[in-house]
Amino acid sequence: MSIQVKSVNKFYGDTQVLHDVDFTCNEGETLVLLGPSGAGKSSLLRVLNLLETASSGELHIANESFDFSQSINEKQGLQLRRKVGMVFQQYNLWPHLTVLENLIEAPVKVAGMEKESAKQEAIAILTKLQLADKADAWPLQLSGGQQQRVAIARALMMKPEVLLFDEPTAALDPEITNQVVNIIKDLSETGITQIVVTHEVDFAKKIASHVLYLEQGRMVEHGTHEAFTNPATPEFAEYLTH
Ligand SMILES: Nc1ncnc2c1ncn2[C@@H]1O[C@H](COP(=O)(O)OP(=O)(O)OP(=O)(O)O)[C@@H](O)[C@H]1O
Ligand SMILES: [Mg+2]
Repeated sequence: MSIQVKSVNKFYGDTQVLHDVDFTCNEGETLVLLGPSGAGKSSLLRVLNLLETASSGELHIANESFDFSQSINEKQGLQLRRKVGMVFQQYNLWPHLTVLENLIEAPVKVAGMEKESAKQEAIAILTKLQLADKADAWPLQLSGGQQQRVAIARALMMKPEVLLFDEPTAALDPEITNQVVNIIKDLSETGITQIVVTHEVDFAKKIASHVLYLEQGRMVEHGTHEAFTNPATPEFAEYLTH
């Protein structure tokens, strides 16, 4: 089992933003998180790679276990994020590094990978994502879609077991969104487990093996792809009409 979230509660100050969130996601599945703005999607995603801690509950992910009733230190977060990668809506590429340098920075400096083999790996990944000709470009010379693919390539350099995406297509036009669809589908065939936050129902339908719909920090619907055609709750049915 790749990811298990057990009774997770999270507060910001006095405000509870996650209520008893509880689900499992098996290896190779692509789980889409949907819900209105403020539902807690990004908060949940950040808990999954310990960018933030929860107030209570348990997390099992990438063969590690965390109990949020005990304190979790920064080192555990750094360790986990080598195995659980994240791609954001804002690509967060380093503007002063070329595409290739962006890709090899963490593997070489953080994971101690040898520079030449990191470069070879980077070229291989860029080639797969049809970006080989951009290896020496600066991020600002790329289109939004190209920057997003570089951000995905950079996450893949760490060979993550789990990949988290927070609205990866929010700034992209439909054609580029389809490229991201294809990348996510290809990755799922390699057995990588993916959790994707999005507002776009069409995009969600194309990639999801499973779906989790949240409202105000509570799980309202959790099901397989089938839930898109046959929602179990009126709330999710209503959301799908937007
Ligand atoms: N750092 C923070 N400090 C305090 N409150 C926060 C913080 N981050 C998020 N929140 C609150 O937590 C709730 C959930 O926010 P979150 O960003 O997880 O929602 P979301 O579902 O990702 O929304 P969106 O679709 O708009 O991105 C919101 O009410 C938000 O105001
Ligand atoms: Mg969000």
